[in-house]
Amino acid sequence: MWSCGGVRGETVEDFIERVLITEEEIRQRVRELGEAISRDYAGKELRVVGVLRGAFIFMADLVRNIRVPLSVDFMSISSYGDECETSGVVRILKDLDKPITGRHVLIVEDIVDTGLTLRHLKEVLSTRGPASLKVCALLSKPERRLVQDLTIDYLGFEIPNCFVVGYGLDYAERYRNYPFIFVLKPDYYHDAQREGKGQCG
Ligand code: IMP
Repeated sequence: MWSCGGVRGETVEDFIERVLITEEEIRQRVRELGEAISRDYAGKELRVVGVLRGAFIFMADLVRNIRVPLSVDFMSISSYGDECETSGVVRILKDLDKPITGRHVLIVEDIVDTGLTLRHLKEVLSTRGPASLKVCALLSKPERRLVQDLTIDYLGFEIPNCFVVGYGLDYAERYRNYPFIFVLKPDYYHDAQREGKGQCG
């Protein structure tokens, strides 16, 4: 049983500054995204590509709300280490297991921040001849965007400029297991706090 139970800011977990998106809000939105995707891809077959590790929980819930035939594959990309800042260098750590030529591909991302990761991923995958290539992201921080004209075809929530964890998202590999999205107390961000990040602006 999770102690904060959907009530914003009220919790006995002492590292939580505030809950930004509750479990129920996520469940509802993921259902809506699944319905929209099912409508748009009716009569087609999907290849859903999850970006590890942050998207694994979102993707698991999303595909259970999609009602067209689909298969899944995963990629792993380097972006953040144990800090909160992107390097701008995007590296493929694990590539797809199967080719995507002629496939309708849906990239599933946890969060679009500067947009560098997603731009790179779209560039790489579009060279492989998919029938179509779209993106579904749970979160977006438009204030932090460095890449202009980046289309997110299906978006869960826009959030302010703050570093969030939970529901698959981590800070230093922790907090992925919480079923809601929250902001950590400043003391728990170490490097992020020193650089003035990790707090809602
Ligand atoms: P981008 O290339 O700057 O858009 O970074 C995207 C990646 O950075 C995401 O897939 C996450 O792994 C990570 N990231 C960005 N913002 C956050 C955050 O608030 N919490 C956790 N991870 C984040």
